Amino acid sequence: MRTPIIAGNWKMHKTTLEAKALAAGIVEKVKEAKEAQIVLCPPFTALGAVAEAIKGSNVELGAQNCHYEDKGAFTGEIAISFLSDAGCKYVIIGHSERRQYFNEDDALINKKMKKVLSSGLIPIFCIGETLLERQKKQTFDVLKRQVLHGLQEISLSDPLKLVVAYEPVWAIGTGVTATKEQAQEAHRYIRDLLAGLWGSQTAEQVRIQYGGSVKPDNIAELMAQDDIDGALVGGASLEIDSFARIIKF
Ligand code: PGA
Repeated sequence: MRTPIIAGNWKMHKTTLEAKALAAGIVEKVKEAKEAQIVLCPPFTALGAVAEAIKGSNVELGAQNCHYEDKGAFTGEIAISFLSDAGCKYVIIGHSERRQYFNEDDALINKKMKKVLSSGLIPIFCIGETLLERQKKQTFDVLKRQVLHGLQEISLSDPLKLVVAYEPVWAIGTGVTATKEQAQEAHRYIRDLLAGLWGSQTAEQVRIQYGGSVKPDNIAELMAQDDIDGALVGGASLEIDSFARIIKF
């Protein structure tokens, strides 16, 4: 049995004060929730405020990106140790917006994955095809490339130390969700790829989240699928009520 994990990716939203209020409101609403592990991923500047607001609760902290070097002359970058220092347990790696707008490729993402896994933080490793790739029937090829290159030379000793997020790019922020059948098919395929890397016993324990226009009214049918183990939520995680309703799917 895999414990579902639902994470809110706040992207470039929320000042410190706004983040504090949002986190505190979520903590209050979900304190009895037993359905899933809960993670908030605010912007770097709000990590401290959110860490404070979730202290002692069932909500955990994550970041949205990191650099693969320990320290040095990398203006504007954030080291993994800074994230641990701020109280993070998770970090999103390879989000499609990083791939699309900041030229992150599979090789760079692989460097980050190796570093994060060796640091003890849990990466939320994002993969997914664009609309054009889906239309050209390249979805499986793209997922295979992203998984095999992004996870190259990684041996996973503990399946709970990795979370994968399947986020079809055409479903992110568009209001168009993948159908439950499309999502389940992709998740099964990804799990089979993980089994090829580390064996089926390990692959069966890795949590695979779905992301892309997840809302309170579509979470239940997604979560009912065999291989969907949670969600990575953007827009709907920016409001207390909608995120709390998603968590209590
Ligand atoms: P969305 O974003 O829920 O707003 O579609 C999901 C994500 O990008 O992680």
